[in-house]
Amino acid sequence: MPNSLPCPDKERKALTFKFLTPLLGAPAEAAIISRMTSRLDALKEHSLVVADTGDIDAVERWKPQDATTNPSLLLAAAEDPRFRPLVERAIAEAGGEVAAAMDALAVQFGAEILKHVPGRVSTEVDARLSFDTQGSSERARRLIGRYEKIGVERERVLVKLASTWEGIRAARMLEREGIHCNMTLLFSFAQAAACADAGVTLISPFVGRIYDWHKQQRKVEDIPIEEDPGVESVTRIYNYYKQHGYATQVMGASFRKIEQILALAGCDLLTIAPDLLEKLAAGRGEVPRRLSPEKAKASPTEKQRLDETSFRWMFNEDAMASDKLSEGIRRFDADARKLEKLVVSLAPAAPAVPQPG
Ligand code: E4P
Repeated sequence: MPNSLPCPDKERKALTFKFLTPLLGAPAEAAIISRMTSRLDALKEHSLVVADTGDIDAVERWKPQDATTNPSLLLAAAEDPRFRPLVERAIAEAGGEVAAAMDALAVQFGAEILKHVPGRVSTEVDARLSFDTQGSSERARRLIGRYEKIGVERERVLVKLASTWEGIRAARMLEREGIHCNMTLLFSFAQAAACADAGVTLISPFVGRIYDWHKQQRKVEDIPIEEDPGVESVTRIYNYYKQHGYATQVMGASFRKIEQILALAGCDLLTIAPDLLEKLAAGRGEVPRRLSPEKAKASPTEKQRLDETSFRWMFNEDAMASDKLSEGIRRFDADARKLEKLVVSLAPAAPAVPQPG
């Protein structure tokens, strides 16, 4: 996938070509260029780089193609005094209603982020709706309605939904209405296969949380990059999508170290937290392409067609994915509740949010 982002290193590269080649010869010149290019810019030659944060200043600094948020990232941003005016604006806009304030807050942050990216922002639907197809779709439409009301086109928003069976059904419906979805909390091949069949715009297969789970199981401090189960999972999913010509974009997410990111160079998109963007920008050296449609097609695999029963069975067989999906929903929900508390504390007259069930 081409990367249209401006690349300052490219300009320096051109100058090096002009002045050093006659003096040093091509091999020395190539070595110099490789030392000058940051790993971040080298990575951008192969994958679209996305910022994984609610910190608007970080988005402005890193100038990524897209940006992704989630309830935990939004909580961190909303607690930051730099962004308090946005929180207050959302509360005022919602007229004291907490659920509306939560939506308004996500949209306020999303719209602000969009001022600094040429592409899209991902905004997550309430985790409490993870097992409710109808509820998820309605909430997604509401979020898009809010964005459109303030002049943001739906093309610039990805609604993030958990990759449960119900979430994937909701995404299928929403995509048919022109609402684009980013399927999150994706830890398994079964989830990826079902998302592709549902025709979703983008999936976010996680790396770091898979790595965390295996480290804990094996009681080890680290897993070498060549055996990293998170990297293996994204590679398998990417290859499957490219082998079968699915249009759904693959965006590797949830990274713990830069080696995991570099091992997936070539993935359609990679969403990266600011601390890792910083490390990539500080590092110098070549970034070889690891994933490509050509490599994917070299070892064909069979197409999977999953109905609800086979999806649930296959997913349940995967202990890691089952644990991580449940835990991920609980964690996002816990952080959303903390955010609600913050909203209530800033608007004491607001009524409590009705709980499901
Ligand atoms: C992005 O879309 C994900 O929500 C994010 O990468 C999760 O990262 P974490 O595992 O570091 O929380």
